[in-house]
Parts: sequence; structure tokens; C-alpha cells
Amino acid sequence: MGFLYSQLFVTPAYPTRSFAGETVIVTGSNTGLGKEAARHIARLGTSKLILAVRNTKAGEDAKKNIESTTGCDPSVIEVWSLDLSSYDSVKAFADRASKLQRIDVLLENAGIAAAKYSQAEGHERTITVNVISTFLLALLLLPKLKATARQFNTSPRLTIVSSEVHGWTKFPEGKQPTDQIFPTLDGEKTANMGERYPTSKLLEVLVVKQLAPKLASSGVTLNILNPGLCHSELSRDGPLFLEVLKFFLARRTEVGSRTLVASAAAGPESHGKYMHDGKVDESALSPFVRSKDGEAASQKVWQALSDILEKISPGLTANL
Ligand SMILES: NC(=O)c1ccc[n+]([C@@H]2O[C@H](COP(=O)([O-])OP(=O)(O)OC[C@H]3O[C@@H](n4cnc5c(N)ncnc54)[C@H](OP(=O)(O)O)[C@@H]3O)[C@@H](O)[C@H]2O)c1
Repeated sequence: MGFLYSQLFVTPAYPTRSFAGETVIVTGSNTGLGKEAARHIARLGTSKLILAVRNTKAGEDAKKNIESTTGCDPSVIEVWSLDLSSYDSVKAFADRASKLQRIDVLLENAGIAAAKYSQAEGHERTITVNVISTFLLALLLLPKLKATARQFNTSPRLTIVSSEVHGWTKFPEGKQPTDQIFPTLDGEKTANMGERYPTSKLLEVLVVKQLAPKLASSGVTLNILNPGLCHSELSRDGPLFLEVLKFFLARRTEVGSRTLVASAAAGPESHGKYMHDGKVDESALSPFVRSKDGEAASQKVWQALSDILEKISPGLTANL
């Protein structure tokens, strides 16, 4: 009922907070919610805006389109290559971004909703893109976010785009022993692709719940959000039910992007919290996430993910 009410009767506030002087990275910003969030952030005066995209031609088109609609100076927006299905690409992006003078916002928006099984980097692709690489990039850039906090006496935001649908799975994989959670998610015979996208969005929430306390005194604000069901290209490879739901209920992409911008602009009061309809709203988290079972699953998932991240980039979790 909350979902229907939100979709039909609530419109997140139009973003007005200035991003002047700030450096902002938006992943997956050539289209969809990421592009509309980038457009708001450009309009709100950011000094540097990096469109982190896997298709740089599409990124250049988005840059031109955003410049033409906001009038922002052509020096503001840069298009950088980032493919979350490749750890080498994530590492190369992070190396480059670590050389920036500052990072005020890392808005991790890129994601997929694949209906068919395939692999990237030895894991099921949705898990690689939406979960492993998303947190790989986050942890690789944490030192820069923390340094920005110290040097500029500010509170940089690390913002993860999740979804309402994190509550639309029972997550049976979470009942596995810790070291079997990802193998069960990854196996061609054991992967439940019907619930894969919701599961990936749940994993994001569970990991943020574990990371937030570790970052409590870092100066970095970590938050996670639900944009609501929105028109975008997300269901291009996804389940048909998403298309049907969208037809009846979806928000305009720009309207959905407002919660991305609200989270990217939010202060320390949003640390570790879930943003929904443009505001912090922990009550919108699923009952499972708020339960003891959810806390136990959260601990196991983080343990399993941190083991994977350490193999990809030894010493990485020391960045927390
Ligand atoms: N739309 C909704 O109703 C809705 C609801 C809740 C949450 N979300 C979340 O919102 C975020 C944005 O989705 P959207 O709806 O705007 O979908 P979208 O229109 O499909 O945009 C997704 C973006 O992610 C990029 N991307 C996909 N795979 C990538 C990879 N391997 N490396 C780098 N970038 C990659 C896409 O690039 P390409 O254009 O090159 O594919 C695109 O820029 C996702 O995290 C999604 O889960 C969406």
C-alpha cells in the first residue's frame, strides 16, 4: 500500500540546494535516472561533474544535452569511462578519480536488471555490476572522500541507488553458510533470476547497514535510496512485469531523479539511512531489513562480500 500511495500521490521536492564548488561523480549518467540527476546537479552549479559511463559516445551525447538544457559551462562536465562489469575498468576509474582535487559526491547509480543469466568476472552479472563493483568503487574512492572531508571541512556523500524492490525477495540465499552465499547467487543452476534484481538491491541495503557504523567518524556521509518506480531504460533486459507496472504507475525519470539529488545533497543526518520520496525514511525499509534476521543476514553478506573485495584488491577493506 505504501508503494502505491507513494507512486500515485507523492512527488519528491524539486531540488534546490546548491552544489557550487563541489566535484560530483554520477555513475550510469548517460541515460535514465543518472542523467536526470546529473542535469539537476549541473543546474545547481556544480564546479565539476563527471559522467561515469560504459559507453563514452552516449556519455558525450548526454553531456551536450545537459549543457544545452542547463547552460552550464562546457568545462564543467567530463565524460569518463567506467564499466562495472570489469574490475580493471573500476580500478582504472578509481585511480584516475583519486587524482582529482576533491570528491564531494560519489553517486553510485549505474545498475542493471537482467532477466537472463550471464556472468562477468566469474559472478552472475547483476551481482558483479550492482553489488561487487559498486562497493569496489566505493571502497577504492573512500580515501579521497575522507581526504576531501578533512581538507575542505565538508561532509562528502557516498550515495547508493537501491530500490523499493529490495523488499520483494525472501532472500533464501542468505540462509546459506557465509561462504556459500555468493556461490549460490552465482551458480547457473542455483541463481534465481526471477528475483535477481530485487536480491541485488537488497544486498546493497544490507551492505550499507554494515558499512555505515564503520564510517561513523570518517566525515563521509553514506546513504542509500529508493527513487520509486520510474520510466527509464532499466527494464530493457528485465522481467516483463516491470514494464507492466511502469505503464500504470511509473514516475517521470526527472521526478525519480529528485531523490538521487536529495541524497547526494543530504547531510550527516542521512548517514546509514534510507532515503525515500526525497527524505530520510527508515520506515520505508522492508520489514526483513529491520528484523533480527535481516541484521544477521547483513553481517553475513558483508563478511562474504569483504572476502571477495579483498581478493580483487588486497587491503581494500582497510580503507573503511
Ligand atoms: N527505473 C526505476 O524504476 C528504478 C527504480 C528503483 C531503482 N532504480 C535504480 O536506479 C538506477 C538507475 O537505473 P535507471 O532506471 O535509470 O536505468 P537505465 O535507464 O537502464 O540506466 C542505467 C545506467 O546504468 C548504466 N550501466 C549499466 N551497466 C553498466 C556497467 N556495466 N557499467 C557502467 N554503467 C552501467 C547504463 O549504461 P548503458 O546505457 O550503457 O547501458 C545506464 O547509464 C539503477 O541502480 C536502478 O536499480 C531504478
